[in-house]
Amino acid sequence: MELVTAFLIAIFVSQCALLGASLAFCVKYTTLALSYGYNAPYVPTHPEYFEKIAGALEIKVDDIVYDLGCGDGRLILFCARREPHAQFIGIERNRLLVAYARTRKLMTGNPSNVSFRCKDFFDVNFSEATCIYSYLLPQTVNALFSRRNLTGVRLISRAFPLYNRTPTEVIRLSQKDGSHGEHLLYAYKL
Ligand SMILES: C[S@@+](CC[C@H](N)C(=O)[O-])C[C@H]1O[C@@H](n2cnc3c(N)ncnc32)[C@H](O)[C@@H]1O
Repeated sequence: MELVTAFLIAIFVSQCALLGASLAFCVKYTTLALSYGYNAPYVPTHPEYFEKIAGALEIKVDDIVYDLGCGDGRLILFCARREPHAQFIGIERNRLLVAYARTRKLMTGNPSNVSFRCKDFFDVNFSEATCIYSYLLPQTVNALFSRRNLTGVRLISRAFPLYNRTPTEVIRLSQKDGSHGEHLLYAYKL
């Protein structure tokens, strides 16, 4: 009898795992499909790069940090744990990703210094930002930052540089060569 129970539990657990994996797969590829045609597709930053990106942002206690196109909010949540006295705002246009980011936030202790806004970043006034991270396509990143006065802001643009500015630093995330310079961070003091 005990063997039968154990067998049934094992089947139940494996079915749940399969369902969870299928769900994660569907969410990942649905969001990817939905984000094509936006100013950048959803390509989340791998956790192995979090520490280096957070270091590049040089976040201090009184900073206001924006991730423009924050995806599922993973990087912002990591940075907020690292510097709990700074403020972190993630802007994301895809509703599904914002819901995912807010769920992640709840599941990681609901830090009060993090918020996610479901908006198009071209419609957002982020002049309060002191640090900005973006992982967007070249034309988007250039359109986004060339139109605004962001004097003094530290900008970290992953993969693509600004056309009309020289970076203060180019940081390599990995020794591997990425497909579109994805392993490079361009740092600017605007
Ligand atoms: C390459 S992903 C980067 C995600 C996240 N920053 C990370 O590093 O894990 C780019 C994100 O920008 C979002 N995005 C693209 N255009 C946008 C827009 N106009 N307003 C807000 N978010 C946008 C996409 O939906 C996608 O999630």
